[in-house]
This record gives sequence, C-alpha cells and structure tokens, in this order.
Amino acid sequence: MFKGLFNPSETIVKSQTTRPSDLFNDENSNTSANPHFEEVLGSRLSRRSLFRGAGLAATALGATAVTGCATTGSGGSVASVDRLGFKPVAKSTADKVIVPEGYTAQIIYALGDPLAAGVPAYKNDGTDAQFEQRAGDHHDGMEWFGLDASGKPSDNFNSRGILGVNHEATTDEKLASFFIHANGGASTLPRPAGEVDKELAIHGLSFVEVQASGKQWAYKPTSPFNRRITAMTPAVIHGPARGSEHLVTKFSADATLCRGTLNNCGTGKTPWGTFVSGEENWFGYFSRDAKDDDARKKDKQVQGLKRYGRNAGAASRHGWESAGPQDQYARWNNSAIGASAKEDYRNEMNTFGYVVEVDAYDTAAPMRKRTGLGRFAHESVAFAKPVAGQPIVCYMGDDARNEYIYKFVSAAQWDPKDASPANRLAAGDKYLDKGTLFAARFKDDGTGVWLELSMDNPKIANSSYFEFRSNADIAIFTRLAADAAGATKMDRPEWGGVHPRTGEFYSTLTNNSSRTLEKIDAANPRVYTDMKGSKEQKGNVNGHIVRMADTSPTSTAFKWDIYVFGAEAGADKSSVNLSNLTDENDMSSPDGLVFSPATGICWIQTDDGAYTDQTNCMMLAAIPGKLGDGGPRTVKQGDKEVTTYVGKTPTPTTLARFLVGPRDCEITGWCETPDGRAVFINIQHPGENTAMADVNDPSKYTSQWPTNAGYGAGKRPRSATIVITKNDGGLIGA
Ligand code: FEO
Ligand code: CA
Ligand code: CA
Ligand code: CA
Repeated sequence: MFKGLFNPSETIVKSQTTRPSDLFNDENSNTSANPHFEEVLGSRLSRRSLFRGAGLAATALGATAVTGCATTGSGGSVASVDRLGFKPVAKSTADKVIVPEGYTAQIIYALGDPLAAGVPAYKNDGTDAQFEQRAGDHHDGMEWFGLDASGKPSDNFNSRGILGVNHEATTDEKLASFFIHANGGASTLPRPAGEVDKELAIHGLSFVEVQASGKQWAYKPTSPFNRRITAMTPAVIHGPARGSEHLVTKFSADATLCRGTLNNCGTGKTPWGTFVSGEENWFGYFSRDAKDDDARKKDKQVQGLKRYGRNAGAASRHGWESAGPQDQYARWNNSAIGASAKEDYRNEMNTFGYVVEVDAYDTAAPMRKRTGLGRFAHESVAFAKPVAGQPIVCYMGDDARNEYIYKFVSAAQWDPKDASPANRLAAGDKYLDKGTLFAARFKDDGTGVWLELSMDNPKIANSSYFEFRSNADIAIFTRLAADAAGATKMDRPEWGGVHPRTGEFYSTLTNNSSRTLEKIDAANPRVYTDMKGSKEQKGNVNGHIVRMADTSPTSTAFKWDIYVFGAEAGADKSSVNLSNLTDENDMSSPDGLVFSPATGICWIQTDDGAYTDQTNCMMLAAIPGKLGDGGPRTVKQGDKEVTTYVGKTPTPTTLARFLVGPRDCEITGWCETPDGRAVFINIQHPGENTAMADVNDPSKYTSQWPTNAGYGAGKRPRSATIVITKNDGGLIGA
C-alpha cells in the first residue's frame, strides 16, 4: 500500500506491494554508468562514456543494503556450537512473538517508555509528551555494554548492562508519525510545530540500563546511564571531511559541528568498547526548492545531491521544514536560499550519511561523526577481530538498490591495551579518523578486488566523472568515488558480520526490484517473478547472503561465494530456491545479520514484504560452513545462463527458523549477555500497514502488539525490545 502523500525519492517506484517503510528504505539513485558487473568485464567503458552516463539521472537501476555485526574486542574464545539445538518454529501470521519450545521472550522496552524520573508512564493514546526523555520509535540495531554490580564497565557480568538502541524512523502516512499524535497528526503543510517537535525527538538513539532479577529482565527508568540522542543533539565532525566547505552551515561556519543523527539502522561495537551506528535513509528528511539547481549555479553539489536521491523540487518525508522559520525547522530545507552557505542550510544534508560513534558509559561526551567511513546509506559496521600490530578492519554496506559494499582499513595499528582505554572516544579518533576506504568489485570467477577510494587512485584523482579535490570530497561524495573506481552494483547490501572463526565477512543482500535480466552477474545472479496472491513481484525478490574472504585482513584481493539464497520452500529449485530451503528455514529478504560472540551462531533477521502473505518476519539461526564448501553452479534465468558459486546446502540443523514476530513488523537488532544466555532483539513497526484514518479504531489496527501480550497501556502498536532466555538457563540456539 502506498501511504505517502509526497514521493520521498523521485526514483521510487510505487508498486502494489510497496509497504510504507519501503518508501524510504528503497532509494535508487545509482544512475552511474559504472558497472553492473558484466559491464566491468573487459573494462570497456571509456571515461568519456562514464561521464555521459553520470550526467543523465534518468532511469535508476537499483539499490542495495548491507548489514554488519559486532565482534567484540575482548577476544574471548568462541564456544564451539556445531549444530542447532532447538525445534524450528513454523511460519506464522499470528499477531505475536513465537519462540521455540523451551524458550521465553519478555518485552522490556517500548516506544515512549520513560527514561528519567518524573516522566509519566506512557499512555499510548497520542497525548504523551517529553519524548526527549522517552524511548524513541522504530527500535533497530542494538549493542550491549556490560556493567558490574557497582556500575563499572564489565565484559563478563551477565545481569546488568546498557543497551545502545537505534531509533530508525517512525510509522507514518501523509507526512505524520500518526501513532504519536492524538488524531494521527496533520497530513498537510505546514506541519504544526508541536507535532514536529515530537517527531524530531523520537528519532535518533537511546541508551537504557537493563537488569535481570533471577529470570526476569526489566529496564531501569531512572538509571543515570539512560540517555537520548535525537535529530537535534549536537555532534562533532571528525575525520577527513571535518572543516570541508561542503559541511559549512549556519550552525557551524567552520564545519566542525552539526546536529542530530537520523534513520539509524545497523550498529556495531568497536574493539575499544564504543557504540557505532549507521545513518541510512537520511536523504528523505530534506526538501529542496524547485529552482535550487539554478540557485547553486549548477556546481558539483548538484551532481552530489542527485546521486544521493535529492533532485531539485524533492519533498521531505515529514515536512519538518514547514513548521516555522525557526532554525530547528528551517534546517530541513536543503536549498541555497541565503547569501552563502554560512547563512542557510544548503549543506545540511551533507552532515548526514555517516557512522556516528558514542561512548555508552559517558553520558556527557558528544557523539562524533566518523566521516572516514564514508557517506552513504549506512547499515552496520562489522569489525574484523583485531590483531596486535595490524590495522583495524571493518566492513559496511550501502542499502539502496545497486549500491556497494565497503571496507575501511585504519592507518593506526591495533594496540591490545586499547581494548579498555582510559578514553574510548580518543581511541575512536585514533582508529577511525585516519585510514583508507575501499569499495568491492566482484568478478565472475569467484574472486574480487577492493578498490581504493582515495586521491591516490588515479581513477578518482583524474576523474572527469566528478571533480574530487581532496579526501574530504571522497568522504562526503563516497558513492561518486566508488562509481569512478568501478565498484559492483549489488542487490541492496544490508547488515554484515565477520565469522568469529573463519574471519569471513557475510553481507545480506536483502532484495532488488531493479535487478533485470540484462544486469544479472555472478554475485547477483537471480531475476525472477514471484506471485504474492495475484500480485507479481519481479527482480531478486527474496535476496541472498554473500560471503567474502580477504586473502589477508588488509588485502585488496578476496574470494566470494553465496552462503544462501532466500526463497520460498515451494519455489523452483533450479532457478530460485538454489539453496534447497525447506519449511524449517525458508525466508525472504534477509536484513539483520550478526554472529554471536558467545556461540558463533549466525543470526539472520528478515525485513520482508514479499512472503508476508504466508508468514510474518522472522529470525533464523545458522551455523554456516566456509567459503567454497559448495561449488560453482550454472543457473538459467529467463533466456540467460549465469554461473555463480553456491555454499553447501543448509539443513535444519545448520539453518532453522528460531522466531516469528507479530504482524507487519521487521525483526532487527541483536545483542547478548557475555555468557550467551540472554539475547536481546527488536520488533520494529508492528502494525505499520494500519491506515492513518483508523488511528483511533483499534479494531482496524493490523497489530495490537505489545499490549496484546500484556505490555503497557493503550492498543496502538509499538516498536519494542524483547529478551529471549532458555527456560533451563542454557545457551541461546545451542
Ligand atoms: Fe534499515 Fe536497510 O534497513
Ligand atoms: Ca523497517
Ligand atoms: Ca510469494
Ligand atoms: Ca531493511
């Protein structure tokens, strides 16, 4: 169902199966002539043709997303779980969370829950206020920061900790975040300032203390560790883009400061113990005047804006810019309307799209924007296990159709003493502010190369595609640098994780409605039609998970194969269900992916709209083998044949459904206590297909979770954190 009044991105195709969340999660602006993989072969594209292709922002080709997972720097040994030990959960469309026999799920922290003394309990009827001191909306990526009994940081205490939680977005229709407003909010411009103030506050991050008393977990509403970061919270710009002319705003003439973090999706935990969070679909929050290209005198920013999904005349997702002339509203109009960049917010959008770093234990320290990790639709940040004397390595994805997979290699070498540094954010400065970013190019022979994104790469420094003057330009216009370098367009890279034993990087490629038969390649080899009822879904409908093995952690050469292809169990096994998935483990649109530091189990979470006629979104547990445990496979797609590399066929003891969520939700976020006996995950946007007109008619809500499970007041559905434990106290999933 299409719910937006304004199309968030000019390039989004409204289909009958578009869910509200897809409108902003499916951006598609890679019109670069730069390679789909088969185009790369032979490097037949001249620079001139690259340039021509880039200038034409016409038909978009697709976007992808990546996810990442956290590997802790504590270096603890990984338990050797070699088979899954639970009875798989059946697919379900019931409005509840289902876990395997012998397990319990408790709801502990939902949208609106108070985070400070004196904040009233959440009434959940649209009249609540003080959202700066309540849990935000759309809980997403999440990390654990342990505390001991005295409240000191601890890596081995299992009943007390701080959860760092992303609040990605909100359930909206026609501009308004309707469940937080009494009558659903205003669906016309200008938006009322009071509504916008609430919406600014429900975005961002929260840090919340949780505790177990016996088997019962709860969050602590008055903990001094509780903290909110919103779309208005000041941040410090770090890395190569600090001070760049492209980050000058009315708020920061010297381009060292900015405000807020937005659309935070995946997370990571650094080897030095901080929280990192990826800003994903931030572009949709900005409007641009119809004549803004002219006002900018068609400078290179115009190309940058288009490449990031904001053409002149673009309308914003919530109309925040319309609420008044005050700075907190005006900043969302990304147009050149003042005499210079110091007098308007023409560069405001350039202050988003980064990885932000926060010290969960230090509530006074400002968040830092780590521009060295590039600017795109970030998902998670997956750190390789740090090795003394070697650079820090992390992997990231850009979730939009036909975007890229990235890797960052620090200039500094790992000092194990930094696993518990005196100043965690100073350690972040050391490892994340200087280094080299790479983008992945996949070859059809199962190998690949990491392409350096720096002024040392002649394809970038001498590019006629875009005028790169410095590494600051590359940090800000990263997609354009990866275009120029020749990276491979993927099927929406979401989260990723580094296998704790093999060191291989796994990236979910959630789906790609823009993949066409002409554009298939070995690493993105499927294009097919799947029926959802009477509706046709085309492209790579169900997604897949690619894995990559670097020759060495800092190598520019890698090998790859496809760990698993998402598919319905009943789909054709010669062209779609290539991993032979069965009723115990079939899935669509893998998104979250995290390896448990305690057990090594790979947890896969779905954010799906294709298979939801038969099952709500889910979480699966996996024990993957290693790259090359399957082999080459030639598959027929339409009238084309493509040879890909498929991992060993999973069985229900190596890949099985562990959980199914309530209606219309996405399953996301994953962290655990250090002993692996409590796992926290998030249920995002249950009931998101509810119509705004029905905001006060609970009988029409598509979900009433979590109140139908006994949590909290009111019947409006709420995003929430749950904790899963095993009734016998055992390891989760083993
Ligand atoms: Fe927020 Fe790409 O998932
Ligand atoms: Ca979502
Ligand atoms: Ca189907
Ligand atoms: Ca997603």
